[in-house]
Amino acid sequence: MSRGDAGNGGGPRVVVLPDVARFADAAAGEVTGIVERAVERRGAAHVALAGGSTPRPVYHRLTEEPWRDALPWPEVEWFWSDERCVPPDDPRSNYHLAREALLAPAPVPEGRVHRVHGELPPAQAVAAYEAEIASVLGTVPLFDLVLLGMGEDGHTASLFPDLFAGGVTDPHPGVVVAATEAPVEPRQRVTFTLSCLNAALHVLVLVRGAGKAEMAARVLAALRSGETEDVPPAARVRPLNGELTWMLDAAAAAELPPELRGEDG
Ligand code: 6PG
Repeated sequence: MSRGDAGNGGGPRVVVLPDVARFADAAAGEVTGIVERAVERRGAAHVALAGGSTPRPVYHRLTEEPWRDALPWPEVEWFWSDERCVPPDDPRSNYHLAREALLAPAPVPEGRVHRVHGELPPAQAVAAYEAEIASVLGTVPLFDLVLLGMGEDGHTASLFPDLFAGGVTDPHPGVVVAATEAPVEPRQRVTFTLSCLNAALHVLVLVRGAGKAEMAARVLAALRSGETEDVPPAARVRPLNGELTWMLDAAAAAELPPELRGEDG
Protein backbone atom coordinates (compact mmCIF):
# COMPACT_ATOMS: atom_id res chain seq x y z
CA MET A 1 0.00 0.00 0.00
CA SER A 2 1.48 3.34 -0.93
CA ARG A 3 0.47 6.64 0.58
CA GLY A 4 1.02 9.73 -1.46
CA ASP A 5 1.64 12.65 0.85
CA ALA A 6 -0.54 15.68 0.56
CA GLY A 7 2.22 17.39 -1.40
CA ASN A 8 1.49 21.09 -1.05
CA GLY A 9 -0.54 20.30 2.04
CA GLY A 10 -3.74 21.29 0.30
CA GLY A 11 -4.12 18.05 -1.61
CA PRO A 12 -5.85 14.88 -0.39
CA ARG A 13 -4.15 11.91 1.14
CA VAL A 14 -3.82 9.38 -1.69
CA VAL A 15 -3.63 5.64 -1.05
CA VAL A 16 -3.01 3.20 -3.91
CA LEU A 17 -3.72 -0.53 -3.46
CA PRO A 18 -2.42 -3.25 -5.80
CA ASP A 19 -5.64 -5.24 -6.15
CA VAL A 20 -9.32 -5.32 -5.23
CA ALA A 21 -8.83 -7.50 -2.13
CA ARG A 22 -6.35 -5.08 -0.60
CA PHE A 23 -8.41 -2.11 -1.82
CA ALA A 24 -11.47 -3.49 -0.01
CA ASP A 25 -9.53 -4.29 3.14
CA ALA A 26 -7.78 -0.91 3.31
CA ALA A 27 -11.03 0.97 2.73
CA ALA A 28 -12.86 -1.14 5.31
CA GLY A 29 -10.09 -0.40 7.80
CA GLU A 30 -10.31 3.32 7.03
CA VAL A 31 -14.10 3.34 7.54
CA THR A 32 -13.83 1.38 10.77
CA GLY A 33 -11.16 3.69 12.20
CA ILE A 34 -13.12 6.86 11.42
CA VAL A 35 -16.32 5.39 12.89
CA GLU A 36 -14.56 4.13 16.03
CA ARG A 37 -13.04 7.58 16.66
CA ALA A 38 -16.38 9.33 16.12
CA VAL A 39 -18.12 6.99 18.56
CA GLU A 40 -15.34 7.43 21.12
CA ARG A 41 -15.68 11.19 20.81
CA ARG A 42 -19.44 11.59 20.71
CA GLY A 43 -21.09 8.23 21.25
CA ALA A 44 -22.38 8.15 17.69
CA ALA A 45 -21.17 8.11 14.08
CA HIS A 46 -23.05 9.52 11.09
CA VAL A 47 -21.99 7.84 7.84
CA ALA A 48 -23.17 8.43 4.27
CA LEU A 49 -22.61 5.51 1.92
CA ALA A 50 -21.67 5.77 -1.75
CA GLY A 51 -23.54 4.22 -4.63
CA GLY A 52 -22.36 2.61 -7.82
CA SER A 53 -20.46 -0.67 -8.05
CA THR A 54 -17.05 0.33 -6.65
CA PRO A 55 -17.98 0.17 -2.95
CA ARG A 56 -19.50 -3.34 -3.09
CA PRO A 57 -16.32 -5.24 -2.09
CA VAL A 58 -15.65 -2.67 0.64
CA TYR A 59 -19.15 -3.12 2.09
CA HIS A 60 -18.76 -6.89 2.00
CA ARG A 61 -15.32 -6.68 3.65
CA LEU A 62 -16.79 -4.64 6.54
CA THR A 63 -19.03 -7.59 7.40
CA GLU A 64 -16.01 -9.88 7.85
CA GLU A 65 -13.38 -10.05 10.61
CA PRO A 66 -11.56 -8.11 11.91
CA TRP A 67 -13.73 -5.16 10.82
CA ARG A 68 -17.08 -6.77 11.73
CA ASP A 69 -15.94 -7.18 15.28
CA ALA A 70 -14.27 -3.78 15.53
CA LEU A 71 -17.02 -1.59 14.10
CA PRO A 72 -19.40 -0.22 16.79
CA TRP A 73 -22.53 -1.09 14.75
CA PRO A 74 -25.19 -0.02 17.31
CA GLU A 75 -23.87 3.57 17.38
CA VAL A 76 -23.75 4.16 13.62
CA GLU A 77 -26.50 6.04 11.72
CA TRP A 78 -26.44 5.12 8.02
CA PHE A 79 -27.28 7.54 5.20
CA TRP A 80 -26.49 7.79 1.45
CA SER A 81 -24.55 10.51 -0.38
CA ASP A 82 -26.87 10.03 -3.33
CA GLU A 83 -29.63 7.79 -4.64
CA ARG A 84 -31.37 6.95 -7.87
CA CYS A 85 -35.12 7.67 -7.94
CA VAL A 86 -36.12 4.02 -8.12
CA PRO A 87 -37.87 1.75 -5.58
CA PRO A 88 -35.72 0.28 -2.79
CA ASP A 89 -35.86 -3.24 -4.22
CA ASP A 90 -34.71 -2.09 -7.65
CA PRO A 91 -31.20 -3.51 -8.30
CA ARG A 92 -30.15 -0.04 -9.49
CA SER A 93 -30.90 1.44 -6.06
CA ASN A 94 -27.87 2.47 -3.99
CA TYR A 95 -29.84 1.51 -0.89
CA HIS A 96 -30.40 -1.96 -2.39
CA LEU A 97 -26.65 -2.36 -2.98
CA ALA A 98 -25.74 -1.38 0.60
CA ARG A 99 -28.56 -3.40 2.16
CA GLU A 100 -27.48 -6.58 0.37
CA ALA A 101 -23.72 -6.15 0.82
CA LEU A 102 -23.50 -4.47 4.23
CA LEU A 103 -26.57 -3.66 6.30
CA ALA A 104 -28.48 -6.93 6.14
CA PRO A 105 -25.46 -9.16 6.92
CA ALA A 106 -24.28 -6.89 9.76
CA PRO A 107 -25.77 -6.32 13.26
CA VAL A 108 -27.48 -3.01 12.35
CA PRO A 109 -30.30 -2.09 14.72
CA GLU A 110 -33.71 -1.08 13.37
CA GLY A 111 -34.09 2.66 12.96
CA ARG A 112 -30.42 3.30 12.16
CA VAL A 113 -30.90 3.17 8.37
CA HIS A 114 -32.03 6.42 6.75
CA ARG A 115 -32.55 5.73 3.08
CA VAL A 116 -33.66 8.16 0.39
CA HIS A 117 -37.23 7.27 -0.62
CA GLY A 118 -36.43 6.83 -4.27
CA GLU A 119 -39.93 5.55 -4.93
CA LEU A 120 -41.28 9.07 -4.39
CA PRO A 121 -41.26 11.90 -6.95
CA PRO A 122 -37.83 13.62 -6.68
CA ALA A 123 -39.04 16.80 -4.97
CA GLN A 124 -40.86 14.77 -2.31
CA ALA A 125 -37.88 12.44 -1.89
CA VAL A 126 -35.63 15.50 -1.35
CA ALA A 127 -37.96 17.01 1.25
CA ALA A 128 -38.34 13.73 3.11
CA TYR A 129 -34.59 13.05 3.12
CA GLU A 130 -33.76 16.57 4.31
CA ALA A 131 -36.24 16.15 7.17
CA GLU A 132 -34.75 12.75 8.06
CA ILE A 133 -31.22 14.17 8.09
CA ALA A 134 -32.33 17.15 10.21
CA SER A 135 -34.05 14.83 12.69
CA VAL A 136 -30.73 13.08 13.36
CA LEU A 137 -28.03 15.71 12.69
CA GLY A 138 -29.88 19.04 12.80
CA THR A 139 -30.21 21.53 9.98
CA VAL A 140 -26.43 21.96 9.47
CA PRO A 141 -25.34 18.33 9.19
CA LEU A 142 -21.68 17.52 9.74
CA PHE A 143 -21.29 13.90 8.68
CA ASP A 144 -18.43 12.03 10.32
CA LEU A 145 -17.79 10.18 7.08
CA VAL A 146 -19.05 10.53 3.53
CA LEU A 147 -18.13 7.82 1.03
CA LEU A 148 -18.03 8.81 -2.62
CA GLY A 149 -17.21 7.28 -5.97
CA MET A 150 -16.28 9.01 -9.20
CA GLY A 151 -17.58 8.52 -12.72
CA GLU A 152 -15.37 8.61 -15.82
CA ASP A 153 -16.78 12.09 -16.50
CA GLY A 154 -15.60 13.25 -13.08
CA HIS A 155 -19.04 13.33 -11.47
CA THR A 156 -19.34 12.39 -7.84
CA ALA A 157 -22.47 11.54 -5.86
CA SER A 158 -25.04 12.79 -8.36
CA LEU A 159 -23.30 16.08 -9.08
CA PHE A 160 -22.70 15.99 -12.84
CA PRO A 161 -20.45 18.33 -14.87
CA ASP A 162 -23.29 20.23 -16.57
CA LEU A 163 -24.36 21.63 -13.19
CA PHE A 164 -21.17 23.69 -13.12
CA ALA A 165 -21.33 25.03 -16.69
CA GLY A 166 -20.78 28.76 -17.14
CA GLY A 167 -18.62 29.14 -14.04
CA VAL A 168 -21.22 27.99 -11.51
CA THR A 169 -19.36 27.12 -8.31
CA ASP A 170 -22.29 25.86 -6.24
CA PRO A 171 -25.44 24.80 -8.10
CA HIS A 172 -27.41 24.35 -4.88
CA PRO A 173 -26.46 27.15 -2.45
CA GLY A 174 -27.83 26.92 1.07
CA VAL A 175 -29.34 23.44 0.84
CA VAL A 176 -28.18 20.01 1.96
CA VAL A 177 -29.96 17.77 -0.53
CA ALA A 178 -31.03 18.37 -4.14
CA ALA A 179 -32.66 16.63 -7.08
CA THR A 180 -30.48 16.35 -10.18
CA GLU A 181 -30.68 14.77 -13.61
CA ALA A 182 -28.11 12.21 -14.74
CA PRO A 183 -27.05 11.82 -18.38
CA VAL A 184 -27.78 8.09 -18.08
CA GLU A 185 -30.68 6.04 -16.72
CA PRO A 186 -31.98 6.21 -14.10
CA ARG A 187 -31.90 9.92 -14.77
CA GLN A 188 -33.73 11.23 -11.73
CA ARG A 189 -31.37 11.42 -8.75
CA VAL A 190 -31.29 12.76 -5.19
CA THR A 191 -27.89 13.90 -3.98
CA PHE A 192 -25.96 15.60 -1.21
CA THR A 193 -25.05 19.08 -2.39
CA LEU A 194 -21.47 20.27 -2.71
CA SER A 195 -21.78 22.31 0.49
CA CYS A 196 -23.06 19.25 2.36
CA LEU A 197 -20.12 17.18 1.09
CA ASN A 198 -17.61 19.90 1.97
CA ALA A 199 -18.98 20.19 5.52
CA ALA A 200 -18.07 16.56 6.28
CA LEU A 201 -15.37 15.69 8.80
CA HIS A 202 -14.03 12.94 6.54
CA VAL A 203 -14.60 12.28 2.84
CA LEU A 204 -13.32 9.01 1.46
CA VAL A 205 -13.34 8.78 -2.35
CA LEU A 206 -13.14 5.21 -3.69
CA VAL A 207 -12.01 4.74 -7.31
CA ARG A 208 -11.29 1.48 -9.12
CA GLY A 209 -10.61 0.50 -12.69
CA ALA A 210 -8.54 1.56 -15.68
CA GLY A 211 -11.47 3.49 -17.12
CA LYS A 212 -11.12 6.05 -14.31
CA ALA A 213 -7.33 6.52 -14.64
CA GLU A 214 -7.32 9.60 -16.87
CA MET A 215 -10.00 11.43 -14.90
CA ALA A 216 -8.47 10.45 -11.56
CA ALA A 217 -5.15 11.96 -12.64
CA ARG A 218 -6.90 15.14 -13.81
CA VAL A 219 -8.94 15.52 -10.62
CA LEU A 220 -6.05 14.79 -8.25
CA ALA A 221 -3.84 17.26 -10.13
CA ALA A 222 -6.51 19.93 -9.63
CA LEU A 223 -6.91 19.06 -5.95
CA ARG A 224 -3.15 19.21 -5.38
CA SER A 225 -2.70 22.49 -7.26
CA GLY A 226 -5.74 24.14 -5.72
CA GLU A 227 -7.21 24.75 -9.19
CA THR A 228 -10.92 25.56 -8.94
CA GLU A 229 -11.74 26.99 -12.39
CA ASP A 230 -13.34 24.63 -14.89
CA VAL A 231 -12.67 21.44 -12.92
CA PRO A 232 -14.79 18.28 -12.73
CA PRO A 233 -17.24 17.92 -9.83
CA ALA A 234 -15.00 15.41 -8.02
CA ALA A 235 -12.28 18.11 -7.90
CA ARG A 236 -14.68 20.44 -6.09
CA VAL A 237 -15.03 18.13 -3.06
CA ARG A 238 -12.56 19.68 -0.62
CA PRO A 239 -13.87 19.43 2.94
CA LEU A 240 -13.54 22.88 4.53
CA ASN A 241 -12.67 21.54 7.99
CA GLY A 242 -12.30 17.86 7.26
CA GLU A 243 -10.01 15.20 5.87
CA LEU A 244 -10.07 14.14 2.22
CA THR A 245 -8.71 10.72 1.32
CA TRP A 246 -8.65 9.10 -2.11
CA MET A 247 -8.24 5.32 -2.31
CA LEU A 248 -7.53 3.87 -5.75
CA ASP A 249 -6.59 0.51 -7.11
CA ALA A 250 -3.48 0.27 -9.28
CA ALA A 251 -5.48 0.42 -12.50
CA ALA A 252 -7.21 3.66 -11.56
CA ALA A 253 -3.90 5.09 -10.33
CA ALA A 254 -2.00 4.21 -13.50
CA GLU A 255 -1.79 7.82 -14.74
CA LEU A 256 -0.91 9.42 -11.42
CA PRO A 257 2.57 10.93 -10.99
CA PRO A 258 5.07 8.42 -9.54
CA GLU A 259 5.15 10.08 -6.12
CA LEU A 260 1.44 9.31 -5.74
CA ARG A 261 1.74 5.74 -7.03
CA GLY A 262 4.32 4.91 -4.42
CA GLU A 263 6.90 4.03 -7.07
CA ASP A 264 9.46 5.99 -5.15
CA GLY A 265 9.06 3.54 -2.30
C1 6PG B 1 -24.24 6.55 -8.38
C2 6PG B 1 -23.05 6.99 -7.60
C3 6PG B 1 -22.05 7.59 -8.52
C4 6PG B 1 -20.95 6.57 -8.57
C5 6PG B 1 -20.07 6.79 -9.76
C6 6PG B 1 -19.08 5.63 -9.90
O1 6PG B 1 -25.36 6.67 -7.88
O2 6PG B 1 -24.01 6.02 -9.48
O3 6PG B 1 -23.27 7.68 -6.54
O4 6PG B 1 -21.56 8.83 -8.15
O5 6PG B 1 -20.20 6.64 -7.37
O6 6PG B 1 -20.89 6.86 -10.91
O7 6PG B 1 -19.84 4.48 -10.14
P1 6PG B 1 -19.12 3.04 -10.20
O8 6PG B 1 -18.57 2.79 -8.84
O9 6PG B 1 -20.23 2.09 -10.57
O10 6PG B 1 -18.03 3.14 -11.25
